[in-house]
Amino acid sequence: MNEKSAPYISQSKDLNQKIEDLISQMTLEEKVGQMSQLAGHPGLDDRLMNSIRNGEVGSVLNQVGVQDLNELQRVAVEESRLGIPLIFARDVIHGFQTMMPIPLGQAASWNMELIEKGARVSAVEAARDGIHWTFAPMIDLTRDPRWGRIAESPGEDPHLGSEVGRAMIRGFQGKNLSDKDSIAACAKHFAGYGFSEAGRDYAFVNLSDSELYNFVLPAFKEAVKEGVATFMTGFSDINGIPATAHKRLLKSILREEWDFDGFTVSDWDSVVQLITHGFAENEESAAYLSQSAGLDMEMASRSFHFNLCNLVTSGKIPVTSIDQSVQRILKLKFQLGLFQTPYTDPELFPVSGNEDHLRAAEEIAAESLVLLKNDFDKLPLDSDQIQKLAVIGPLADDGFEQMGTWTFDGVEDWCLTPLKSIRKYALDKFELRYSKGLKTSRTKDRTGFIDALSVASWADTVVMFMGEESILSGEAHCRANIDLPGIQHELIEEISKLGKSTVLVIMAGRPLSLTQTLPLTNALLYAWHPGTMGGPAIKDVLFGLKAPSGKLPVSFPKSSGQIPIYYNHRRSGKPASHETFTHIDHIPARAAQTSVGNTSFHLDDGFEPLFPFGFGLGFSKVAYHDIELSGRTITKDGTITVCIELINQGQHMIHEVVQLYIRDNVASSTRPVKELKAFQKIKLNPQESRQVEFTITPDMLGFYNSENNWVVESGDFRVWVGGDSNARQSAKFQYQD
Ligand code: BGC
Repeated sequence: MNEKSAPYISQSKDLNQKIEDLISQMTLEEKVGQMSQLAGHPGLDDRLMNSIRNGEVGSVLNQVGVQDLNELQRVAVEESRLGIPLIFARDVIHGFQTMMPIPLGQAASWNMELIEKGARVSAVEAARDGIHWTFAPMIDLTRDPRWGRIAESPGEDPHLGSEVGRAMIRGFQGKNLSDKDSIAACAKHFAGYGFSEAGRDYAFVNLSDSELYNFVLPAFKEAVKEGVATFMTGFSDINGIPATAHKRLLKSILREEWDFDGFTVSDWDSVVQLITHGFAENEESAAYLSQSAGLDMEMASRSFHFNLCNLVTSGKIPVTSIDQSVQRILKLKFQLGLFQTPYTDPELFPVSGNEDHLRAAEEIAAESLVLLKNDFDKLPLDSDQIQKLAVIGPLADDGFEQMGTWTFDGVEDWCLTPLKSIRKYALDKFELRYSKGLKTSRTKDRTGFIDALSVASWADTVVMFMGEESILSGEAHCRANIDLPGIQHELIEEISKLGKSTVLVIMAGRPLSLTQTLPLTNALLYAWHPGTMGGPAIKDVLFGLKAPSGKLPVSFPKSSGQIPIYYNHRRSGKPASHETFTHIDHIPARAAQTSVGNTSFHLDDGFEPLFPFGFGLGFSKVAYHDIELSGRTITKDGTITVCIELINQGQHMIHEVVQLYIRDNVASSTRPVKELKAFQKIKLNPQESRQVEFTITPDMLGFYNSENNWVVESGDFRVWVGGDSNARQSAKFQYQD
């Protein structure tokens, strides 16, 4: 089929005209059909095919297999009255068949080029299988590692999150949406879902406007600027209004303020969940509330299908509102070239999992690894010194688990595990023995301890692979306690008593609280769920073939009780300091109230996280010299250049993420203690020094005030530059309007 032969497509050169012409020929039922997305089923389902034939479906999600997709498309194109092609959607979150690290891990790379490349690979592989649209990037800012979906998020910072989202959108959508290997992206979940109370998925969200505007919305606004094709609403409510029927979000902010011209889709069943929320009385009112709030397409449930026509004929919803939604949906179909090329021919694409794809996965996996501890420079391991290496732990050799959450199509057989990679590397260099020790991360069965301890006793160096399997994070997989699950800590403790050199590698979908475990190991490498090529990436960093260069995209709490703890919190009237903090162990008997500093901390865990946002070690130390500013005052149209010299003081090459933070000293609202505003990832050879420059612009100084207006207020500011959010080098400057 070709566009020219489609009888209902006008020959107008103007896209909007073409769409209008098509809409003018559609029945109300066919319009509502375009606004309905149905779930596919394994094999081909007659009911679904009939609905497509009747023009009742605009999009299908989660149908897999290019042949089946082409067949569904054939029914839409050849057997439905108007022949409007379907748009096929899938959750391609961090890879299709070749898996990149989980998004939180990708964010830890702070390398936007690699993130974009990873999304490009995912798009090519997904498009080869007939997918046109991914439900990614997920750009929900979150401060709660209990929430299983932190694995999917870019972490706690609006600036880093925005950059990660933008890089993914560029990667998925490619140069032009009409390219055969471009897929439409979807910014989700709009908005506030990352603040689900107590980190429990689908719970309620209490979010002030100040937090919404200054922390949650920026990444979505940036996604619009990057040209994201679609938006997905969230499952949660915000202060009593479910996101799927949130007029202010979907109309005032998204359309009027940001001028978004793509379409919005609900989350799975989230339209009919308005009834469960107690916000809508029945499906008719759920359809009414969400569509009139600005929702264009309903995912999975069918309240639009059964009710929108009546709502229009009874005059409750104007047909212009329906036309507008259909216009947006058809526009994307035209932009993707679906009218011209509705079918997918995999032969026209490179095979999935090819060398380039695996290399991209390996590069990003290597840069996502964060070195959190390295006492006595235990890492990199020296293969000339090691004679006997023990590899221990439930996650050392499990390809499936290292892929992480949302890996519908990830190919387990392609996964190279750490054990396989280290074994290959060891060959004639040193001996290697392996013991799993524990059947799973969460088992309470200690029978494997005997073997693990005997392997560890034999070795001179022990590398342990612990953490969480993929099932312990992701959607609906939340934990109240983020300690290492099961008896992993006990096994590490037993091994530590043997007095060997130990390295702990954690593979997990979230930050774990490692306060008790940390002293038991010489080195700690955080690997997240690193994807298909996690094994070689970890091996390269352990043995110094690559530099560790990841930095934390989220603060690591000392305990679950510290949550939420994040670096960019507002300034308290009684801030804690090392001087005022009194640990519970140091409170004298019969202490008076005043003997404990009255500032903002916990008696047991203090006021700092275990590891701060932005933190990560290299194999060499970096020294930061003083900051130099090009001026002390910035005006409305001006800029200030910040210059800082860095020196790699060690013998290893490093990739340092140089981070710039700013604080507004006095403002009309209490402002964060500091906020990340820019970063650069740079390479430094041993002993090399380098000048790094940043430009401060007035828009880096603004915020949404108590009336939700964007303001840049005159006054004093402070800038810091350093290797994490505790950066010490700082300077003052002023903004004058
Ligand atoms: C998730 C979405 C996802 C959708 C479709 C929902 O349960 O919240 O993020 O895109 O399912 O699979």
